[in-house]
Amino acid sequence: MKITELTLRRPDDWHLHLRDGAMMRAVLPYSSANFARAIIMPNLVPPVVRADDARAYRDRILAAIPAGHDFTPLMTLYLTETTNADDVAAAYEAGLISALKLYPAGATTNSESGVRNIERILPVLERMALLGIPLCVHGEVTDPEIDIFDREAVFIERVLRRIVDRVPELRIIMEHITTEEGVQYVWEGGPNIAATITTHHLIINRNAMLVGGIRPHYYCLPVAKREQHRLALRRAATSGNEKFFLGTDSAPHLDARKESACGCAGMFTAPNTLSCLAHVFEEEGALDRLEAFASLNGPVFYRLAPNETRIRLVKRQTPFEVSAKIGTDEGLLTVFDPGFPLYWHPDIADTANPGDAVTNTRT
Ligand code: DOR
Ligand code: ZN
Repeated sequence: MKITELTLRRPDDWHLHLRDGAMMRAVLPYSSANFARAIIMPNLVPPVVRADDARAYRDRILAAIPAGHDFTPLMTLYLTETTNADDVAAAYEAGLISALKLYPAGATTNSESGVRNIERILPVLERMALLGIPLCVHGEVTDPEIDIFDREAVFIERVLRRIVDRVPELRIIMEHITTEEGVQYVWEGGPNIAATITTHHLIINRNAMLVGGIRPHYYCLPVAKREQHRLALRRAATSGNEKFFLGTDSAPHLDARKESACGCAGMFTAPNTLSCLAHVFEEEGALDRLEAFASLNGPVFYRLAPNETRIRLVKRQTPFEVSAKIGTDEGLLTVFDPGFPLYWHPDIADTANPGDAVTNTRT
């Protein structure tokens, strides 16, 4: 029998960019309508490096959550070579932060303050291991000699294996994996290693970005790879294996910043992520594993209880429509286009347009 309705524990997003100010007010409602919790990326300008920064950012997020939405931001600190282990420990013990984020310097948007020399962060990593604080990793080398499509696989060999050797008790989330090598490393790794997978990397390969013209709205980092890698990601996400869970990496940038000679990396997937995921899991004959990927596996790794509340997804005859572009006080923002109609509707009042502060402009 064809499944046309699904009830899941409310999902969490284990990797989300909310930005700040006007952009945050525009994008946050799309996440808070659907997700109960999200790991909030710290790559603001300037980055969220100290406990006080995280507290202030958390309070700005809490103040921007629309009335009626039940959403908990799980804060992270941006790991630098001068991060203070005592500050980290105090922030974790106070319940203020859930993880630290390692950006190799220069790997992506606002990563200039990231890490150049792993040796310098070992004392902090050792303290994190002792306290059980997870490390979220942007796993790409920045060596200009390394082809951009190989940067994840080379990171595993050159950096990740070294970190795991030196601090084996550290719990690591290899974020937004995009390759067969990433899947295999995590699948075969010990219990301290897990991975997030984005919605978009389950849907597009690199052709989406490059065939028929350069399509900046399909450019993100890590960049989408060949088809064989997308298929490996689909196998991992739909496997039910506890080590793989959803981190959307929804990363909004204004159209003016993306449609440019040097366009920013990132896709804004928050408005239609759940519909896209249901579509993918249905295609893979794995609708019964969507809850593991989106709602159960993440809390296991983060040592949190899964959400008690539920959401319903309903497959309808009519497509789930979200605006192609969303207005912010600073300009327009393009929503991820999966390239096919979506029929799964999150059964939440006004999901396609959840924010009072949001002006939608269909173009
Ligand atoms: O595509 C991306 N966008 N990848 C990242 O790692 C950062 C993110 C952003 O902040 O825009
Ligand atoms: Zn990200």
